[in-house]
This record gives sequence, C-alpha cells and structure tokens, in this order.
Amino acid sequence: MNTADFKVLTGEMVEQIEALLPRYPNKQAVTLPAVHIVNAALRHVPLQAVVEIAEILELAPAEVQDTLTFYGFFKQDQPHGRTRAWICRSISCHLRGGDELLDHLCQESRIRPGETTEDGSVTIEYAECLGACEHAPCILAGDELHKSVTKEDADRLLASWK
Ligand code: FES
Repeated sequence: MNTADFKVLTGEMVEQIEALLPRYPNKQAVTLPAVHIVNAALRHVPLQAVVEIAEILELAPAEVQDTLTFYGFFKQDQPHGRTRAWICRSISCHLRGGDELLDHLCQESRIRPGETTEDGSVTIEYAECLGACEHAPCILAGDELHKSVTKEDADRLLASWK
C-alpha cells in the first residue's frame, strides 16, 4: 500500500499552506506556519503530516520534523484535548500557588502534566510566564487568559472544559 492511501492533510489544509507561499522568502520559511495550520486542525501533527508538509515545501521530512520538535509545543502521537490548559509555574505564579493549582487540576482530572483526560476534553500543561505576573496565578486555556485563579475558579474552569 502506498502512503497516498493514508493522507492526513485535507485539501483545505493544503490550500492554506500553499496560500502562504507567496508571503515568505522561500518554501522552508513556511515550515512553522504550515505545522501550525495542521496542528490547529488536527490538534497534533502526526508523522504522516510531517511527510506531506515536506512534500508541499520540497523539503526532507527530517527538516520539518526538526522544526516541529524544536519547540516542544506540538504533540505527535495523539491529539491534545479539546481544551489545552497552560498553568503558569514561573516565579510570580509559583509564589502565589500556581504549582498547587497545577497539582489540583491534574488530581481532579486524573492525569499528569502533559497528558489528556480519557474523554479527550482537556490537556493540562505547565507553562512558563504568561506575561500577566501582577495577576498571578494565571491559566491560559485556548485563547483565554484567566487571572488571579483560585482553586474554586480552577474547579469551575475544569467543569466548563468537560
Ligand atoms: S509568572 Fe505567571 S504570568 Fe508571569
């Protein structure tokens, strides 16, 4: 069986990636935006997607894989949860209970940092400074930044992500 039978990029994703090409100095420069397009659609970037991105950009798959793994942001084995929650553990948040929030959320979700709940609703991650230290502790969930989060707030957020 050939790999074309297992395409994971949809026509829409390919179109989005190709639409970026004129905006960048060369195809290689489109690698990271292309990876983001796939990640936004699939909530992860499986190896087959890496191969297909490389084909579009006329690169070796290893070049795309290098870029992807450099950031440690992209999951490859399985999609992250429908909500990806980042709990800040940098100094201000750490001093104001960020680590306890992280432990609490993980305990309530029965997962460890970096893992996804069984129902696929949420992935809990630790984050470095989210840029709102004066409102520590902070959680970024999707595009929404939650400030001065208490344990009760965290419980409410967790319920809303289910
Ligand atoms: S230390 Fe958490 S937002 Fe800056």
